[in-house]
Amino acid sequence: MTDLTGRRAVVTGGASGIGEACARAFAAAGAHVVIADLNGEAAARVAEEVGGEAWQVDLGDTAALADLTLEADVLVNNAGIQHVRPIEEFEPERFSFILRLMLESPFLLIRAALPGMYERGFGRVINISSVHGLRASPFKSAYVAAKHGLEGLSKVTALEGGPHGVTSNCIDPAYVRTPLVEKQIADQARVHGIPEDEVVPRIMLTESAIKRLVEPEEVASLALWLAGPDAGMVTGASYTMDGGWSAR
Ligand SMILES: NC(=O)c1ccc[n+]([C@@H]2O[C@H](COP(=O)([O-])OP(=O)(O)OC[C@H]3O[C@@H](n4cnc5c(N)ncnc54)[C@H](O)[C@@H]3O)[C@@H](O)[C@H]2O)c1
Repeated sequence: MTDLTGRRAVVTGGASGIGEACARAFAAAGAHVVIADLNGEAAARVAEEVGGEAWQVDLGDTAALADLTLEADVLVNNAGIQHVRPIEEFEPERFSFILRLMLESPFLLIRAALPGMYERGFGRVINISSVHGLRASPFKSAYVAAKHGLEGLSKVTALEGGPHGVTSNCIDPAYVRTPLVEKQIADQARVHGIPEDEVVPRIMLTESAIKRLVEPEEVASLALWLAGPDAGMVTGASYTMDGGWSAR
């Protein structure tokens, strides 16, 4: 059992899906968890249930994060959205927003957390990337670009943080059973020209050798291990949890 007693963990997007599963796993392991989310009501609900605290924040508003100081022993960069469009129809402002939310904001949060981590000689940065940090799919230009960028940011953080006891790693899941996936089924059906009930088997599970969605708790269990003492020599790595997708 990983023991996080005495650790303060900040989980972005902690009010739903993978972030919520991480928040629950970390709290069960003894951490004080800060649930940072745009949805203040849901963040407050999860915070109350796990005995942590809610931080309502729009992580797409990067200007507001520029001068931030963040007290965290563990930082999970997880908040994210999806937008499915061919490049020629992809709204430029939407592209910029996704890069702000999923790449610039992780940079700003890491930047805000590192001084405290360096002072204490301990830190764990866990970036929820995706198999789309390593592989591309059509119609997801902003998401794939942001996740590939996050992979690079994570490795640089690992190199700079190593001498200070700070590790940084990515977790790269295939499709996980969360609201983010449910919300994109209609768009995927439209751009691929197939019925909605064929999206999961024909689009989402095509590349995986194991034909099922990942569960949020499976991702959280890996995040918990990365946050704990046994993972002290693991840094700059990207852990796939993709049912074999990236083995191709
Ligand atoms: N679900 C998947 O299939 C899958 C696969 C690989 C990677 N991921 C990644 O996992 C992460 C979490 O995804 P999920 O599937 O749990 O999604 P989700 O939709 O269940 O949860 C995302 C959370 O982020 C919050 N959020 C959205 N915009 C925000 C903003 N501007 N500021 C602050 N918070 C904001 C939402 O309120 C929500 O609580 C994302 O980075 C996603 O790219 C998901």
